[in-house]
Amino acid sequence: MKLTAEKIGRMYFRSGRDTNFFYAVQSIDFEPEEGKVTVITGRSGSGKTTFINMLCGLLTPSCGKVMLDGKDIYALSDRERSLLRNRSFGIIPQGQTGLQCLTVAENVLLPVSMYGRAGEKEDKAKKLLEMLGIDDLWDVYSNELSGGELRRMSVARALINDPGIIVADEPTGDLDGDTTVLVMELLKKRSENGAAVIIVTHDKDVMPYADTVYTMEKGVLKKQ
Ligand SMILES: Nc1ncnc2c1ncn2[C@@H]1O[C@H](COP(=O)(O)OP(=O)(O)OP(=O)(O)O)[C@@H](O)[C@H]1O
Ligand SMILES: [Mg+2]
Repeated sequence: MKLTAEKIGRMYFRSGRDTNFFYAVQSIDFEPEEGKVTVITGRSGSGKTTFINMLCGLLTPSCGKVMLDGKDIYALSDRERSLLRNRSFGIIPQGQTGLQCLTVAENVLLPVSMYGRAGEKEDKAKKLLEMLGIDDLWDVYSNELSGGELRRMSVARALINDPGIIVADEPTGDLDGDTTVLVMELLKKRSENGAAVIIVTHDKDVMPYADTVYTMEKGVLKKQ
């Protein structure tokens, strides 16, 4: 699965600045390698989340194109893009996400139950939770989880469909050292099975897993 960003940029509006519009991301060309882990670091506010949200179909660029296997993903309708995102991308967002009214199992199986049959993936969901050390939380409602448990739940949800592209925004931000290893081993394994894995991180413990490292500086991406 080939993902290519062609000169993508994103402008935001902010009142109170000299000029009200500014580019958080500036005209970036980017092609993550399949079968590799690509890490993006950079200071807070440098544009990392904005950039990867554009890559995975969550945020429309102000300029440029994001192509998946030769198809412009922002030329698709909302519904087509949602289906494509669900099928092709595994997304671990920054911050805590999860539907509080659902159990851990229901959250993990959400990408399947929305468009298919969750029953078929139950064994896989159990295995993922086991590998992440939270299989005992299967039936627990997600509003009762700790930050690190929620993070691991979102990792399992991102991997449930064996996506060709994984986009992870600070996936180990609230994890201890041992749990970081569990998460990174899973992501690395997915890359060895052919996925392009893109990770935004400040975490030094993630660096040994990186095949390629980029730094974001004021909306400009540089290869290290
Ligand atoms: N919806 C928005 N409207 C206006 N400005 C925004 C919006 N989202 C982000 N920004 C601004 O764009 C810049 C880049 O934000 P972004 O979230 O991409 O940074 P980041 O590198 O992910 O930071 P962090 O490491 O703190 O998560 C920041 O200056 C931020 O304040
Ligand atoms: Mg961010």
